Amino acid sequence: MLSGKNILVGVTGGISAYKTAVLIRLLKKNGANVKVIMTQAAKQFVQPLTFATLSQNPVYTEFFNPENGEWNSHVSLGIWADLFIIAPATANTIAKIANGIADNLLTTTCLSSRCKIMIAPAMDLDMYSNPITQKNLSDLTSRGFLTVQANEGFLASGLSGKGRMAEPEEIFLAAKEFFSSKEDFSGKKVMITAGPTREKIDPVRFISNYSSGKMGYALAEEFANRGAEVFLISGPVEVKAKSPKIKVIAIESALEMYLECQNYFPNADIAIMAAAVADFKPEKTADNKIKKTGEQLSLTLSPTTDIAGELGKKKRQDQIFVGFALETENEKQNAEKKLSTKNFDFIVLNSLQDKGAGFGYDTNKITILTKTESQSFQLKSKQEVSKDIANKVLEIINKK
Ligand code: CTP
Repeated sequence: MLSGKNILVGVTGGISAYKTAVLIRLLKKNGANVKVIMTQAAKQFVQPLTFATLSQNPVYTEFFNPENGEWNSHVSLGIWADLFIIAPATANTIAKIANGIADNLLTTTCLSSRCKIMIAPAMDLDMYSNPITQKNLSDLTSRGFLTVQANEGFLASGLSGKGRMAEPEEIFLAAKEFFSSKEDFSGKKVMITAGPTREKIDPVRFISNYSSGKMGYALAEEFANRGAEVFLISGPVEVKAKSPKIKVIAIESALEMYLECQNYFPNADIAIMAAAVADFKPEKTADNKIKKTGEQLSLTLSPTTDIAGELGKKKRQDQIFVGFALETENEKQNAEKKLSTKNFDFIVLNSLQDKGAGFGYDTNKITILTKTESQSFQLKSKQEVSKDIANKVLEIINKK
């Protein structure tokens, strides 16, 4: 997979620089061509000779070779690379890259490189959790940088917490995954609904549910990473979309979600209904805050539009339509009923009976039901679950 790939490794000044030697060894062993750029600070931790020997290439630090004036072109290094991995990436370098500062060969190459840049942050726990660093990291992610998350554990400072550079094997796997990831949804438009809806009782109160939106957002990232253009119609949630290929359409009520779905559904090749739409709304929304009187208050609720049900009636043969069913009892029967009444190609069933599945969790345990088959999966992260769902969509596209 890595055979013949050109990988530029940037090393900045952190104690974990010694682990980068193992990373370079792994990359070379798997057939990659490796060149290394070190900052001056990195050279305080590891000798360039170590990296030069392992990469079988000279190590670059300066713009010019002081002995013969030869120019180490950041432009040609940036163009040469298929992937630029910065490991370890210190808080200082992350801050510089996030702000477009080009004050050494490494940061300058970052600005001029055309390939993906993957960063493996390494720093003390307080520097890592500092909102400035977190903001810089999230800015980089939203610009399409890949991050290999820091690990928790013992830190060089003697403290313990999050900030340890990911292990060389983890960074190597991320690089492998980068090269194996196919843009198999390139050219496809995907509409995804996510999160809860809010149905107003009065200007300060609403009816809603516990949906966190994590599943819908994980799906949006998965399709975007695989080349799709994603329209994410989302209720109010804490999670944020990272990929620049995701357009978030923020809504509040079921009616607003329905109107946006009507807008985006006709042009969508794939539509995934992951939102937990409120099934009822107050018949009337009070104009002013309802005052307590000491008496009971009755609210009359009327049904909201079944968005999936309505879109299912309009679904074209060439569109893939996917639903979710969160059930607490008679799970399979209920899901099968929804599969057919809403005209889904398949439905993703999760049961609240399963530990770690459902609202708020970072994990999910799903069963995918089509009209003819049922496939159950293990408890997995919502990112991994998204891969399974996207793969199922692809399988159906290929069968059509
Ligand atoms: N759905 C929708 N609009 C609604 C209700 C649900 O689009 N008003 C979609 C959900 O996003 C999901 C599927 O329909 O993909 C099934 O949702 P669910 O809440 O499980 O089913 P309901 O049809 O609401 O039935 P019930 O709540 O009675 O189980």
